[in-house]
Amino acid sequence: MELPLVQPGERICPESALEDGASLKFRVLENERLIEAFLIRHAGQYYAYKNRCAHMALTLDLEDNDFFTIDYRALICKTHGAMYQPDTGFCFAGPCYAESLEALQLEVRDGHVVLGRPPGE
Ligand code: FES
Repeated sequence: MELPLVQPGERICPESALEDGASLKFRVLENERLIEAFLIRHAGQYYAYKNRCAHMALTLDLEDNDFFTIDYRALICKTHGAMYQPDTGFCFAGPCYAESLEALQLEVRDGHVVLGRPPGE
């Protein structure tokens, strides 16, 4: 199934659509190219990142929309096991230690999670 394209200022989903530990994939434009991104809910907060490992330009989930470790404390890349803090995208273990996922700005508005605009726009 093709992932929906979400532009800055557009809704990604209703707040009620995601429980803690859940994730949702979508696409965004990066330099006029469509790339994958994902939204997660962690400890009651929403975070979104480009779906691109800081180690190599591969998706973290390898397509199955499963980003969390079994204990839901971290995000994990399935290819070589890099682990990231869900709330910052900081890599605390693995081949790209101390690098970070690329975060996307979010807003919660009228009961929906909305893609924000990058800083400076
Ligand atoms: S591609 Fe993600 S850890 Fe290597």
